[in-house]
Amino acid sequence: MTQPKVTVVGAGQVGATTAFLLLNKGIADVVMIDVAEGLPQGKALDMMHSRSVERFAPVVTGSNDYGDTAGSDVVVVTAGLPRKPGMTRDDLLAANGAIVRSVVGAAVEASPDAIVICVTNPLDVMTYLGWKVSGLPSGRIFGMGGVLDSARFAYAIAEETGASIDTIDGLAVGAHGDAMVPLPRQSTVDGVPLTDLLSPERVEALVQRTVFGGAEVVALLKTGSAFYAPAASVTAMVEAVLGDTGAILPSCVHLNGEYGISDVYLSVPAALGRQGVRRVVEIELDDAELAALQASAATVAETVAALGI
Ligand code: APR
Repeated sequence: MTQPKVTVVGAGQVGATTAFLLLNKGIADVVMIDVAEGLPQGKALDMMHSRSVERFAPVVTGSNDYGDTAGSDVVVVTAGLPRKPGMTRDDLLAANGAIVRSVVGAAVEASPDAIVICVTNPLDVMTYLGWKVSGLPSGRIFGMGGVLDSARFAYAIAEETGASIDTIDGLAVGAHGDAMVPLPRQSTVDGVPLTDLLSPERVEALVQRTVFGGAEVVALLKTGSAFYAPAASVTAMVEAVLGDTGAILPSCVHLNGEYGISDVYLSVPAALGRQGVRRVVEIELDDAELAALQASAATVAETVAALGI
C-alpha cells in the first residue's frame, strides 16, 4: 500500500521520537533530515531494525539531502537547539531563527504542496518566521504548541484530582511560553469545569504547573528539553491532517481578527485537515480570558518585531 510521506527535519530527540511514533502508528513513510551526517541514517536504520518486532508497515529513511524529501505530504520542523536549564524559549531566538529560515525554504522547495508543522522554539515566533520564509498560504503552515500545553494541563489536573486521564479535557491557548493561557473554565473532569471542582488557589497552582511544565522537564533532564510529549502532540496533528479528520486541536495558527488579534501566530482551537487549517474556532471567552489571550499575543508580536521579520 502506498503510504503518505512525512519529512521530519531534525533527527534529534523530538524529530526521531516523532518519526518512531509515525511508524509505529502506521501513519506514514518518514524521511528524517539533519545537518549531522550519519545521524538521520543511523536512527532510521535502528528504527527499521525494529520493524519485524513492531510489525509496522511504513518505512523510514535518513538523509542530509532535501532531494530525498521531494513530494512530502507533511513536513515537521524540529531542527534547532533545545533549551538548557535556566534558558527561556526566547533565548533560542537568533540561533533557531537562522536554522528555521534555511530548513523551511529548502523543505518547501522540495515539497511545494506539503502542509508544514513547526515545533522548533520559540514556537509561535518560529512558526511566523516559517510562514514568511515559505511563501505558503497561512493555513498551510502552523505550529504545535497548544496540543502540548493542553496535554500538560490535563496531566496536572489528573495528578491533582486522581481522575482517570480519559475523563479529562485540558485546554490551554496562547503563546507556547510563559505567556501561555491555560483555561480552567473550559477544562473539565467528566464534563465538570475545573473551576467548579477546585478552589481558586488549587486551580492557580495547576495553571502554574502547566505554564512551567516544560521548564520542570528541562530542570530534571539538564541536557535538553522535553521530547516525548512534544512528539506525541505533533504526531496527533499529522494524523489529523493526513486522515483529513477535521479534529479540533489547539494549534499555533495565523490569526486574522479572531479574538481581536491580527497577524500573530498563536495557539487557539483549530480544525485540521488535509488542506491544513480548515477553520479557526472562536470559543467563548470571558473578559479576563480574552485579555490574557490578547496580552499573550502582544508578547509574541513583540518578539516577532525584535527579530525584524
Ligand atoms: N538542518 C537540519 N537539522 C538541523 C539543523 C539544520 N540546519 N540545525 C540543527 N539541526 C538538528 C541537530 O543536528 C539535531 O539533531 O536538529 C536536531 C535537534 O535535536 P536536539 O538537539 O535533540 O533537540 P530537540 O530536543 O529535538 O528539540 C528540537 O524542538 O521542542 C523544540 O525547543 C526544542 O527548538 C527545539 C527543537
